[in-house]
Amino acid sequence: MSESESGHTGLLEAARQARLRAQAPFSGFKVGAALESPGGIITTGCNIENASYSLTVCAERVALVKALSEGITEFSRIVVVADTDAPTPPCGPCRQLLWEYAGDVEVIIANTRTTLATHHLADLLPLPFDRRLLR
Ligand code: THU
Repeated sequence: MSESESGHTGLLEAARQARLRAQAPFSGFKVGAALESPGGIITTGCNIENASYSLTVCAERVALVKALSEGITEFSRIVVVADTDAPTPPCGPCRQLLWEYAGDVEVIIANTRTTLATHHLADLLPLPFDRRLLR
């Protein structure tokens, strides 16, 4: 299926545009993300690095916290874009936060040219720890 047939062209383009705003002077590895609500609201993020390195925030988490802070609390899909031939999947901490706040979203991994893979978050985070276990 071509990207234009996939039904997420706008979301892909939003993630690619967000990637161009990445603040990644240390790794040079620019990532963009675009998170979509069931109603079609798109919230974007890019990775934000800093001189301590460890305070770096991934593109996915930037998109998520932006959306939540704007009152958007339901999500259906997220696109992650890097400029690599191999898929760039969300890191562990991003999977955890996405699981807790976005649930079993579709995770579409793409590069600057094409879509590379599609997953469901539950498959990327088996046996999750979440609020259901805080009893
Ligand atoms: N990064 C993301 O933003 N998202 C991912 O899914 C993987 C990694 C960022 C963090 C860091 O700024 C750079 O990519 C290299 O790890």
